[in-house]
Amino acid sequence: MAKTLVIQPVTRIEGHAKITIQLNDAGNVDLARVNVIELRGFEKFCLGRPVEDMPRIMPRICGVCPWSHHLASAKACDAVFGVEPPPAAKKLRELCNSVAFMEEHILHFYFLAGADFLLGPDADYSIRNVVGILKAAPEIARRVVKVRHLAAHMLEILAAKAIHPQAAVPGGFSKPLAPENRDQLRKMADETLDLAKFSIAFAKENVFPKYMETVKSLGVITTGFLGTVKDNGALNLYDGKLRMMTPEGSFEDFPYDRYTDYISEHIESWSYLKFPYAKKWGSFSMDLAKPSGIYRTNTLARMNVCDFIDTPLAQAELEEFRQKFGRPAQLTLLYNWARLIELLYNAENVIRLLEDPEITSTETRVKVTPRAARGIGCTEAPRGTLIHDYTTDADGMITNANLIVGTTHNNAPINMSVTQAAKSLIHDGKYDQGVLNTVEMTIRAYDPCFSCATHRLDGKVSVRLDIVDAEGTLLDTLTN
Ligand code: MG
Ligand code: NI
Repeated sequence: MAKTLVIQPVTRIEGHAKITIQLNDAGNVDLARVNVIELRGFEKFCLGRPVEDMPRIMPRICGVCPWSHHLASAKACDAVFGVEPPPAAKKLRELCNSVAFMEEHILHFYFLAGADFLLGPDADYSIRNVVGILKAAPEIARRVVKVRHLAAHMLEILAAKAIHPQAAVPGGFSKPLAPENRDQLRKMADETLDLAKFSIAFAKENVFPKYMETVKSLGVITTGFLGTVKDNGALNLYDGKLRMMTPEGSFEDFPYDRYTDYISEHIESWSYLKFPYAKKWGSFSMDLAKPSGIYRTNTLARMNVCDFIDTPLAQAELEEFRQKFGRPAQLTLLYNWARLIELLYNAENVIRLLEDPEITSTETRVKVTPRAARGIGCTEAPRGTLIHDYTTDADGMITNANLIVGTTHNNAPINMSVTQAAKSLIHDGKYDQGVLNTVEMTIRAYDPCFSCATHRLDGKVSVRLDIVDAEGTLLDTLTN
């Protein structure tokens, strides 16, 4: 008999979501959906505020991705004011970005995705969690906690605050790096590089070989990819041009301030998340048999779109990865592998930037003056390409804002991957906890942050806010 399976909450992701899987009379999967059940709405409530406040307000979207929003917002402000930050400011921003990436990727690999790999997808959920990891691998867990703490401390030295930073400002960076702090950071960076090297070696030996069958059992969705590269085609996470790659591997590059020529946003009645798609590839469709306009962002996308990585250890890993899986690689769980290559790149990039003599220059900002303009900022966030797009009036007040967040790009692919995984694993109405967790693993591979991604507030979606007192008596109802 037809039936709906619900996985709620989806655990070890950032934000709140549930999965619904519809089984038909034969017990096979008709459809699966990831429903995101929260709303941030930043595109609306920053209207009418001074644009220079955005780099301070936007990081509040999320406690996990504040640096990405901080930097994309600062870059959008540079564009609104029509200024170019001094080279040292750009390097300090990129340095902070790379440290934040390391912290995020370590968190995801060991504590969010890690439980599935270290304890097994079928392990009971009572141990398949952070506490389970602490018990199963206490030495590794202790080291991971220590290095994450170290990365947060590095951000405090660079920007005074690790979370909800304010150091990047329109026109630059407010805190030059003192030489003695640079020396202190340089020592710390050796320890983060050691953990990055250990992580990929450990995973290639103990984790990935064990789960290649699980990875393949989920089936494949075939999509295009989007990511940032430098002019020479090298991977870059702070700045560059966007590269849109077709599922077949051909690509087109474009400046990020022309993103609306390449990306449209589709909406569905059942989600507060929009569905960006590549508009030059035709209309939007998530049909597994005949998808259209679908591309992915985040680690796997970046490994696919770049021609090379300009740090030696990460480049060697990329070459091995490409040899094994081709370009573009499509298996969704390879996001986890790609994440560790990126961890290594960031650890190397931090050292490179700290050894750059210009990093301690005291020229870190230029003056800005309000004007009516539109400015677009784009960076790679750990979770994908992040675009902030602001328009201001002559007083510098925001009149329009659009955000496309890393996870938003992956909304359609996440829904497709979950449908594909459910179809591959559930037959004749048979499933167990391990099967449902393996479906969840496909979402986790994308490392989504749904809190960051829910900004849809248009006439087609209704929002109702019930205000109740402590006893639950309805006092008022607000609607849009
Ligand atoms: Mg948007
Ligand atoms: Ni976030």
